[in-house]
Amino acid sequence: MSAITVSGPRRFSGRLRVPGDKSISHRALMIAALGRQPCTIGGLSDGDDVTRTRSALEALGARVEDHASGDVTVTGGLDGAPNPIDLGNSGTGIRLLAGLVAGYDFTTTLDGDASIRRRPMGRIIEPLSAMGASVRGRGASGALAPLTVEGRPLRGIEYALPVASAQVKSAVLLAGLRATGSTTVHEPAPTRAHTEEMLAAAGVRVEREGGSVTVWPGEVAPPNSIGIPGDPSQAAFWLAGACMAPASHLVVENVYLGPARGGFLEVLARMGADITVDSDTGNIEARSSELEGTRVTAEELPGCIDEVPVLAVAAAVADGVTVFEAIGELRVKESDRAAAIVEMLTGLGAHCRIDGQTLVIAGGGRAQGLGGGTVHARGDHRMAMSAAIAGAAGCGSVTIEGFEATATSYPGFARDLSRATGWAP
Ligand code: S3P
Repeated sequence: MSAITVSGPRRFSGRLRVPGDKSISHRALMIAALGRQPCTIGGLSDGDDVTRTRSALEALGARVEDHASGDVTVTGGLDGAPNPIDLGNSGTGIRLLAGLVAGYDFTTTLDGDASIRRRPMGRIIEPLSAMGASVRGRGASGALAPLTVEGRPLRGIEYALPVASAQVKSAVLLAGLRATGSTTVHEPAPTRAHTEEMLAAAGVRVEREGGSVTVWPGEVAPPNSIGIPGDPSQAAFWLAGACMAPASHLVVENVYLGPARGGFLEVLARMGADITVDSDTGNIEARSSELEGTRVTAEELPGCIDEVPVLAVAAAVADGVTVFEAIGELRVKESDRAAAIVEMLTGLGAHCRIDGQTLVIAGGGRAQGLGGGTVHARGDHRMAMSAAIAGAAGCGSVTIEGFEATATSYPGFARDLSRATGWAP
């Protein structure tokens, strides 16, 4: 296990580009693999999660060719993978692929690392089974990975999501491409809309109305090229860090600004963050700010679910109390993030507790909110990066054990930490 130590407070400055959006990258590869014509993808995330999805699609029969520019060209055509597919740490990879292969006439076994094997898969097994799919998992409940998906003819369904999850929505919509009749998903709160947007751009009939989305089966004809913008969830680390740290001014360039991904910007703005978004370029600028506590409601949590760890770090140096409501979904991410956040922040001298379904952080202000200590990343990329921001923007020396987890989504994070703050290993 590798560890790094980051001491602060440091100044955040300069201009950065973050990796291509992870959610869009998975979907670009999958949708391209369903097409008949080659599709060239630029700006793909270089994280391990997306690389796993690429390898999975190659094992299933798609061809992926690398270009010197970093672009890849995908030529679709899936005919089955003889061996289990290892999706590593990727919940998006395993859940979306389960839906994607469910209507083919081959059997696929989907597996992942220890974290993936703990995460709930019943949430996709239930609607896919209602469509006629055969998905068998491990354990008494049969709802844990590895999952064996035996291809079956599928029928369209109408499904109300019990939890606001873009992964579940997407698994059902992708299965719907090979079902008879239409498939409708109703969402309890808005979640990222990449699957429906990208399927529509690939010529699939998609209708959206209020909190519902319907797809019809049919040919997938991806565009000749897809360009992937920067990942807002990765930009969040630098933007939050620049707001927290003294004398800072930083720009993250070319960030995706579409629906249901910018919730963290609204939360930071409410906290008093000095952040400016250029909607033409996707450039986002952040400056040192006097932050105040805020309430993140149950309705808005799905729109900033991946940014809660770094928002919690920012809350620790704010003045006043910050509350995150309805934190149940945080417990079933790459780690139990509710517990991981409490352990991280209390270990760094902040006041943080879970009160039923609510995470409560009593901010101590910039000078006293965060001190030094050791944080265990728990194999969770977003915890590792949040702890590094706590070290760089807080007032202590923070050692992050298991820092290698950053490779899941952001292999260049340490390099960018140096660029943004002058940190040296
Ligand atoms: C993702 C959806 C979210 C998010 C994950 C990526 C996606 O998960 O936490 O990092 O690409 O669809 P849920 O939809 O399960 O909340």
